[in-house]
Amino acid sequence: MTHSIRRQVLVTGGGRRLGAAICEAFARAGWTVWCHYRASKAQALTLSETLRAQGWDVQAVEADITQEAGRQALIAQVTALAPLDCVVNNASAFEPDTGLDFDVDAAQRQLGVNLIAPLSFARLLARQAGADEQADRCAIHILDQKVYNLNPDYFSYTVSKLALERAVALQAQALGPGVRVCGVAPGILFESGPQTGDNFLRASRANLLRRPIDPADVARSCVFLAETRSITGTTLSVDNGQHLVPLPRDIMFVVDELLQADNNSNAASSPSSP
Ligand SMILES: NC(=O)c1ccc[n+]([C@@H]2O[C@H](COP(=O)([O-])OP(=O)(O)OC[C@H]3O[C@@H](n4cnc5c(N)ncnc54)[C@H](OP(=O)(O)O)[C@@H]3O)[C@@H](O)[C@H]2O)c1
Repeated sequence: MTHSIRRQVLVTGGGRRLGAAICEAFARAGWTVWCHYRASKAQALTLSETLRAQGWDVQAVEADITQEAGRQALIAQVTALAPLDCVVNNASAFEPDTGLDFDVDAAQRQLGVNLIAPLSFARLLARQAGADEQADRCAIHILDQKVYNLNPDYFSYTVSKLALERAVALQAQALGPGVRVCGVAPGILFESGPQTGDNFLRASRANLLRRPIDPADVARSCVFLAETRSITGTTLSVDNGQHLVPLPRDIMFVVDELLQADNNSNAASSPSSP
């Protein structure tokens, strides 16, 4: 493995879904990729073995990123042979709650993974011992179109992503000139939580372009930011314009209501209905 030539990126929660697409995009762009996992060991190992078989440089690495000791140990492991050039803070907890009923422990858990861990990884990227001060380094925080398109569902999750979105500029000021800090704000990409396949099919088209967002586009945007030395303190929306379509509730609940209305009107018009 040639750690000395390739630039290195750490992708948190990289074993599946968007994280896997980000790992693949960086690998194919010639980076050494550290694919972090917590529970998705099998997916992370399969992904890294598949990409290695194609000639790319990808390692799966387990860590508890909710604790500072775990984050420091992970950074020590991935920088043992060469410095880290980029971290993509993709891992995230997404739990339903509201401003009225949120559970304090669950809210703190989400803030820990979605806000504190990303801020900490960017800071650890800046504080690497022995790194070349002239090298271009970049922290990328994965956000959500929700931060530009508020509704009160998934309250604690949204609060965590709002704080992280504000921190993009703040951390860019704090960590420059050594580290650039950028955000990527995707729209809906995958089924989440209790969402059904029917619901997702409809929800994924509720944007200005009326088509699903390609996770590979989000991943490619991360590589673009990591490789574009002049960008810091800013966020790219990669959401087919979803943030410009305001809704009173999370898209999953809006679609649930539409599907229910469709079912009711089908039942009313069916010949067997009373
Ligand atoms: N999915 C969407 O439609 C969507 C829309 C907008 C924005 N986003 C953002 O895009 C990113 C990726 O979305 P996704 O849906 O692919 O993510 P996801 O599947 O919900 O989570 C990604 C990974 O985060 C890790 N993770 C979750 N909870 C954790 C915890 N408590 N401690 C440590 N790691 C934890 C898990 O890794 P292990 O599996 O290894 O445990 C998980 O696979 C997230 O930042 C999300 O907020 C997603």
